[in-house]
Parts: sequence; structure tokens; C-alpha cells
Amino acid sequence: MTTDHITVLGIESSCDETAVSIVKLENEKSGEILSNVVFSQIDEHMPYGGVVPEIASRSHIENLSPLIDRALDEASFKLQDIDGIAATSGPGLVGGLIVGLTTAKGIALGAGIPLIGVNHLEGHALTPLLTNEVSFPYILLLISGGHTQLILVKSLGKYIQLGTTLDDAVGEAFDKAAKFLDLGYPGGPALEKASEKGSSNRFNFPRPLLRSEDCNFSFSGLKTSLIREVKEIEPLSKKDLADLSASYQQAIIECLTTKSSRAISRVKKEYKDLDIKYFVASGGVASNKAIGKSLNDLAIKNKIKFVAPPIKFCTDNAAMIAWAGGLRLLNGQKDSLEIPVTPRWPLEEMKLNGGNLG
Ligand code: KG4
Ligand code: ZN
Repeated sequence: MTTDHITVLGIESSCDETAVSIVKLENEKSGEILSNVVFSQIDEHMPYGGVVPEIASRSHIENLSPLIDRALDEASFKLQDIDGIAATSGPGLVGGLIVGLTTAKGIALGAGIPLIGVNHLEGHALTPLLTNEVSFPYILLLISGGHTQLILVKSLGKYIQLGTTLDDAVGEAFDKAAKFLDLGYPGGPALEKASEKGSSNRFNFPRPLLRSEDCNFSFSGLKTSLIREVKEIEPLSKKDLADLSASYQQAIIECLTTKSSRAISRVKKEYKDLDIKYFVASGGVASNKAIGKSLNDLAIKNKIKFVAPPIKFCTDNAAMIAWAGGLRLLNGQKDSLEIPVTPRWPLEEMKLNGGNLG
């Protein structure tokens, strides 16, 4: 590399979005997104009310190559001008991961450029450095269809899990409820919309683990209590649907804010040497306006700044993969073409210099 910046092509295919992006960077404070294309498979999974892994893999195969061409075109780049290729190698659905990582290996081999296997969660965790005025260290609430975690992000590769869900992810709680209430797919935005005119205190849904002193979550019991309430008041009027949605969302909000508050206090107490200035929410669920407002209020109370990346970078995208891969490449990481996909790969198990085989 002759210049002080590098350009990395990123591929994301761990769930139901096929995405490619090209990012230019010099260090953790300087990232520029040159192109960012995403193909969402929502329509293909809609008839089933959830992601079907076989359909997802096939769709990634069909869409990845044209998306790579588009990302290069939009950035006015040729493959031979790219300094590195980063692909999500875990966690996620194994079929999709194989499609993305194998394609990246082919490109790395053909173009003679380094390969970096990226942890999808690290992509989400480092996004605010790319999209917002944020610097290490910060507390991250990662809330998506697959993950619900509170993480202390100390620096590249140094993550401490403060809390996690013991069962369903928060996005799943939204999706399952929306499916049961027949509100539409994906469930999160549908339930948020349905709740707009509803009363959030008509139904008293459980707030699991709220009294436990840890920062963990549990959402699997929520749907059961929703089913119970519905059985009692059927048939449902429009008002019932709105009230059920709003009350259900309120229960989720209270779990998220209470545990986030506990995480902030714990970090302030246990990591006194760290100057935590930011509380970041990322993942698809962070685009929920009521959740965002409550988290912002919480941050104000704790005298730290609330940050949520723009929605298109909160949900799955490849800019975050190119960015995380680029930071690792700058840090000296180059993965072997032999690296496997890692469907289960907690962020805490990351290593600073290549983590895939650990
Ligand atoms: O981050 P994401 O796009 O994909 C992964 O799961 O990695 O998150 C998707 C999840 C889905 O469960 C979806 O229902 C939820 O985020 N979601 C929302 C909202 N928008 C998306 N949940 C609540 N309110 C929303 N506005
Ligand atoms: Zn994700």
C-alpha cells in the first residue's frame, strides 16, 4: 500500500440481506463510504412470516455477484484498485455465511488481495465510529432480530459483554407478536405502527428479570402472556389491537431501559478509569422511535450522549463489514484462505488480530 488510506470491499450475507459496500479509511476516525448497496430478501420470506435459511442462501447466491459489480460501479472502482476484501464469517446462518465468505476468498485469490473474516457483531459494534462523532470507549445496546446484548466497547477487538438475552432476541419478540396478531412482516415496524394510537398501560405484560441485579434479558415469556390476554378478550377490535401492541412494546421498552441503566451504572462503578461519553443503540430494533426516545432520556439522566447510527446503518449492511475489516487490516490482520465460517461467535471471543479460529 503506497498511500496512507486503504479501500476495502465488504460483503454481508449472514441473514436475509445481501449487501456490498466499499469504504475508504485511514484510521478509526476517518471512514468514507464510497458505495453501499443492499438487497433485502423481505419479500421472499414474507409468505413464511420469518427467514427461511434455504431461501436465504439461494437468494444470496443469485444476488451477490451483481451487487459486487454495482458497488464497484457506484464507487468508480475496479477490483484491482481494492486493498482488501472483508466478508462476514459469523455469527449467522451457515448457508449465507458460506456464500459470502467463499465469494470473498475467490476474489482475494484472483485479485491477490488480503482477506479478512469479520464478526458481524463487531461490524454493528464499530458502526458508530464510521457514521457518528463517537470515539472509544462506549456502551453499546445491540438490539436486532438475532441479538440483544449490552456491550462495553473498549477499543478494537476489546469487548466486554455486560448482558445478553437468555432466550429470544428482542426483534424476535416483536416479530412473533406481530405474526400472532397478524399485523404484517417484518413484525417490528408493523407492531410499532399498530401501537401508535394504542394505550400502553391497558395490559400489564410481564417485565422478565427486571428485579434481577444483572444486565440480562428474557423475552420468550412475553408472547405466551400475549396469547393469554388475546384469548380473554377475543374477538379483537382495532382498539384492542392498538392497545395490545402499545402495551407489549411498553413492556419491552422498560426491560431495555432498566437493563441499560444498570449497565451504565455498572461500567461507571467497575471501570472508573474509562471515560464513557456515549451510549449507542444499534441493530434493527433501534429504529423504533419510542425505544429511541426512552434510551435518549436515559442517557440524558446519566449525563452521557445517546447515539443511534442512521437507520440504514443500524440494520444489516456491508459498510459496517468493510469498516470493521478495514480497521483490522490496518491493524495487520490478514486471514488465511482456509478460515471457516463461524455460525456461533460471541463478540467476547474476538481476538485482536484474527479471531476466526479461536
Ligand atoms: O438488524 P436487523 O436488520 O437484522 C438482524 O436481525 O441482524 O434487525 C431486524 C429486526 C427484526 O426483528 C425487525 O422486526 C426489527 O429488527 N425491527 C424493529 C423495527 N424495525 C426493525 N423492531 C421494532 N421496531 C421497529 N421499528
Ligand atoms: Zn445484524
